[in-house]
Amino acid sequence: MQTESRKIPVDIVDSEDFRLDVCAGLRQRQRSIPPKYFYDAQGSALFDQICETAEYYLTRTETTILDEHSAEMVGLIGQPCALVEFGCGSAVKTPLLLRHLDSSSVCVLIDICKPQLEQTEARLAAQFPNIKILAVCADYTQLQALPLPISCDLRPVIFFPGSTIGNYTPEEAQHLLRKAAKLIGPNGSMLIGVDCKKNPTVLNAAYNDKAGLTKAFNLNLLARMERELGAEIEPDGFTHYAYYNPALGRVEMHLVSRFDQVIRISGEEFWIGEGESMHTENSYKYWPDEFQDLAKSAGWDIEMFWTDADKFFSIHLLRVS
Ligand code: AVI
Repeated sequence: MQTESRKIPVDIVDSEDFRLDVCAGLRQRQRSIPPKYFYDAQGSALFDQICETAEYYLTRTETTILDEHSAEMVGLIGQPCALVEFGCGSAVKTPLLLRHLDSSSVCVLIDICKPQLEQTEARLAAQFPNIKILAVCADYTQLQALPLPISCDLRPVIFFPGSTIGNYTPEEAQHLLRKAAKLIGPNGSMLIGVDCKKNPTVLNAAYNDKAGLTKAFNLNLLARMERELGAEIEPDGFTHYAYYNPALGRVEMHLVSRFDQVIRISGEEFWIGEGESMHTENSYKYWPDEFQDLAKSAGWDIEMFWTDADKFFSIHLLRVS
């Protein structure tokens, strides 16, 4: 990557991929839509608002842990380093680490939502003028190499906050962690935020906020299908449904059809019965040792972990084993 160009202008989510993934998902018996399609400009803005709600404790709690322990985290990672953030969004937590980095460190922000990525890069570059901030518009699951500046020999560390790892099944998460270990190489580490198992009442509230922002976030998928794919969908045809499934240790999010209806996309018709659902997201929750076993099985050693007083959220520092 040329550091001078600063941005790689790629529109990662092309509408043909979106159409193919949606149609393939709607043909399945348990219909589904991949959660990565939540994050267009509207969905990303809604997600930021969800993070501010009283019910969605994840962001608040992870921020508290980072605020308290970031100096120790950076000390253990070692300086100078190349901090590579997977799926940075608006990167609200990144400054908590950047404030401890010296000026020869670099920060690489990776996200699929280009408008938000550009704003985030500009904001962090203004806030930390001494640190080189680079933005790469990409799907971090598809990386063939870490997008570091040419001849960068800094210690690489992946920053993967927000419990986004929970949006993958344990098998997918293991695969992604194994791939990350390969990408980062023998000297690399990863700082990863993971939401913990807890009382289902707390979890159910977090995904059913009173202001209706999670509902709007879920329904935005349908609006996006209409906007970008010309999908024909009955107005008010679906309700937001999210609940914690204790047997599987995950919050499931669905769009449930309110009546028998047909969705039309590019000439294809999908007949959906009353009460039938489209599964839009899983959010797996892990006890800290459960997550650490998963990380170990994917080629990582556990260097340290931190949690909050309620043990609601955990942050793990992993080192390639
Ligand atoms: C990004 N991800 C970790 C969020 C989560 O909690 O699974 C996305 C989200 N879905 C509903 N609310 C927030």
